[in-house]
Amino acid sequence: MHYAKELTIGKRKCGLSLLRLKNIADDFNGRNLDFCICLGDIITSVQDFNTDTDNIKAVAEGFCDFKMPHHIILGNHDLEAMSKSDYYIAFGKNPLRSYYSFALKDTKFIVLDANFNEDNSDYCKGNYNWTESYINAEQFNWLENELNLSIEENIIIFTHQNLDYRLSNGKLDACVAKNYNEVEKLLEKSNKKIKVFQGHYHNGDNQVIGGIEYITLKALCVGDDINYIPRLIVSIEDEISISHMDY
Ligand SMILES: [Fe+2]
Repeated sequence: MHYAKELTIGKRKCGLSLLRLKNIADDFNGRNLDFCICLGDIITSVQDFNTDTDNIKAVAEGFCDFKMPHHIILGNHDLEAMSKSDYYIAFGKNPLRSYYSFALKDTKFIVLDANFNEDNSDYCKGNYNWTESYINAEQFNWLENELNLSIEENIIIFTHQNLDYRLSNGKLDACVAKNYNEVEKLLEKSNKKIKVFQGHYHNGDNQVIGGIEYITLKALCVGDDINYIPRLIVSIEDEISISHMDY
């Protein structure tokens, strides 16, 4: 979303994101959805704790328009001026931790957090480089257990940073978590039906690796058209299908 009040940075019209969020709420409220999820970077940080807190609160208020439960993933920009716990306090959420899972109608949904440094420490103000993201060791072990113990065959994974191998200018794309390869292998060896939904990479992308589809949504904040609201509607019967796509 990259919301920041009255801020424009090049093509990023950060001040328009709340209007776009309202348009998404209107669209989603007209459908019979079980929940919605935002894939992170709800703000563009202005490097000031109080202003970022106010902007996060404004986005949280915007989510009150949604008539279904909502989930929010942490993004790197959300943490430029604060810690993860500061962010959750500002948003008014209180998860046990930044990664978790839940099951719904025979599908397991896994929310990941790749906002970790190589030494397993959390991203927070002054303690990260956005081009170096990791799934930390504890979360990796937790994910392995989640996959092994899952009675659900369909698994949907949500992550801000990307987990699919992709090159940019001959090097691993900076949007891809540094330990993507271990995570990819973990997903593949589970033999579950998995789709991965990602944010972070503003251009969007879609590729299949090892039988797993990785879908990266485009960024919401680009351009002047407030009706430009990249989003996906996912349907699950026996198989996971994307019934409506606008990204
Ligand atoms: Fe990001």
